[in-house]
Amino acid sequence: MVTLTINGDVRTADVPDDMPLLWVLRDVVGLTGTKFGCGIAQCGACTVHLDGVAVRSCVLPVAAVAGRKITTIEAVGATPAGVKIQQAWRELDVVQCGYCQSGQVMAASALIASNPNPSDADIDAAMTGNICRCGTYNRIRAAIKHAAAGH
Ligand code: FES
Ligand code: FES
Repeated sequence: MVTLTINGDVRTADVPDDMPLLWVLRDVVGLTGTKFGCGIAQCGACTVHLDGVAVRSCVLPVAAVAGRKITTIEAVGATPAGVKIQQAWRELDVVQCGYCQSGQVMAASALIASNPNPSDADIDAAMTGNICRCGTYNRIRAAIKHAAAGH
């Protein structure tokens, strides 16, 4: 049994300690906004925040995150950075198929929260592990700058 704090709610889950957090979020807790892409920390689709930092939930054993603050795409819009990023995403119409986008939004929100005015190099460093098969990279970069500029 593991006790987790997810989006401000304390939840208990009767799961093996080594089950990846992504499995617990999607299949046990029912929060399916976080996506499965590769399962090996290579695509970023499963990105969530752990104490505000972007992490890959597909390779994070659930026991390692007990007692830490987990935020998912379902609640990031309630954070100051998340609301700015989601608004910029809408205004610049970033999304194509959408599959990668919860991970993109989580990575971008963590970036803006820690660095309100990121340079191109900062954006590259924060976003390079989030793959988009639709190639929305240019709009993602523009939307991060849009959010940082406070539009
Ligand atoms: S599913 Fe976790 S990085 Fe791809
Ligand atoms: S919007 Fe389709 S994979 Fe990124």
